[in-house]
Parts: sequence; structure tokens; C-alpha cells
Amino acid sequence: MSNLLSSSIGKKLLMGLSGLFLMMFLLVHLTVNALLLVPDGGEFYNAAAHFMATNPFIKVMEPMLAIGFLVHILWGVKLTLENQKARGNSRYASGNKTTGVTWASQNMLVLGITIFAFLVLHIAQFWVKMKLVGDPRLEGIDITIGGVSTHVENAYALVNYTFSYLWVVIVYIIAGVGLALHLSHGFWSSFQTIGFSNQIWRQRLSVLGSIYAWVVGLGFALIALLQYLFYQPV
Ligand code: HEM
Repeated sequence: MSNLLSSSIGKKLLMGLSGLFLMMFLLVHLTVNALLLVPDGGEFYNAAAHFMATNPFIKVMEPMLAIGFLVHILWGVKLTLENQKARGNSRYASGNKTTGVTWASQNMLVLGITIFAFLVLHIAQFWVKMKLVGDPRLEGIDITIGGVSTHVENAYALVNYTFSYLWVVIVYIIAGVGLALHLSHGFWSSFQTIGFSNQIWRQRLSVLGSIYAWVVGLGFALIALLQYLFYQPV
């Protein structure tokens, strides 16, 4: 195992696999949060949030998600520093531009740090309040799920209130663009690392990756912006 991790492909494999796992999480997270835009006073969103908070499978996935983020962040920093050290000044030696090298691919660490900074704020705004310290806005309400009246946390009220601040929305837009750029390289790169790429698929994955990256990144940003503009605090 330690041999695999110290080999060049082994080092990238951990980044690629954790990246793929996080990309699946982002898709689920975006889908649930898109329900914030259903104009029903948050009933559908609260039902989905209740499902996510009580489903045993999701409960098992939560610590795995935390581990996935930790591995991806710590390993990413380590690999970038190692690569920079190995390259020395050679990255500045030639003025020629290598084809296929994008701005995003050369700035994955900076983009990653931007996303991490956003995550610290994001977890404090929502997860800490919902799971640890509470918030008066979360006070339980009764909604109907499958014809049955159910008492749930008012997650919608907390999110809706948070997005009533312009500075918060601006932070989400900046993070969304950073995330899109990070994913636009990370998507095809992780598929390439697990060996799922060749001449034909390289091109296809690059297009698919761009679509995925911008839908996810701008999707989150748009949800925050539309909440701010059109959904009055409840
Ligand atoms: C419109 C934008 C977003 C909204 C409304 C939103 C909402 C939420 C909420 C309400 C929670 C707490 C859920 C709970 O603990 O039950 C949460 C947790 C979390 N969010 Fe977001 N989120 C958004 C964007 C993002 C983005 C862009 C990322 C990653 C880059 C992200 C990563 C996470 C993570 C890792 C957690 C903790 C794990 C979890 O509880 O599922 N979120 N988010």
C-alpha cells in the first residue's frame, strides 16, 4: 500500500478517486439545493432536507464525505508542493506555451484554497447551526410528506435568511466561479488518472467536464442570487 502511494500514479490515484467521490456529492448537493427555487415557501426543500438528515445511508456517507474532503485537500497541497520542488525554476525556463495547459490546470492549488476558504464559511453558516449549536430560525414546523403530517426543522428559513445578505451572495458567486474552474480541469483529470481516457475520450471528457463544471459552479451561484433577488425572508 505504501509502495502504491509513493509511486507517481499512486499519488495521483488518491486525488482522482477522492475527486470523483466529491464530484458525485456536489451533484446530489446541487439537486437538493435547487429545490430552494420551488415557490412553495420551502416545503419541498424542508422535506428533502429532512430526508437527507434522517436517511441511514446518508448518515453513513457524512463521515466518509469529511474524510474525502480531508484526503483531497491535504494530498493536493502535498503533491503540488512536491511537484513545484521537483520542477525548481524549470517552469520559467521556456517562454513557449504548452498546448492543452489551461489557466485552471496551472492554478488548481489556488482554486482549491479559495474553495476551502468558502467551505469554512459555508459549514459555519449551515452545518454547524443545523448539527451543533442550533438557530432560532430552524424551529420545527409541520409539513405534509406523502400525505402524513411530519414535524421537521425549518432548514429553508435559515438558508433563505442567510441569502438575504448581498455580501454572502457575492461570496457564493466568487466561490461558484472558482469551483467551476477547479472542476473544469479536475473532471477529466480524475478520469484520466483512473485510466478512463484515450485519444477519443480525452476530447469528450474535456467537453463533458466543462459542462459539468459550469452547471455545478454557476448552479450554486445562481441559486444564491435568485434567493436574494426573488425570495423574501420567511
Ligand atoms: C446554493 C449553494 C449552497 C447551499 C444552499 C448549500 C446548503 C447547505 C446546507 C443547508 C448544508 C447543511 C446540511 C445539513 O447538515 O443537513 C450544507 C452542507 C454542506 N455543503 Fe453546502 N450548500 C451550497 C453550496 C455548496 C458548495 C458550493 C459546496 C462545496 C464546494 C458545499 C459543500 C457542503 C458540504 C461539504 C457540507 C457538509 C456536508 C453535508 O451536511 O452535506 N455546499 N450545504
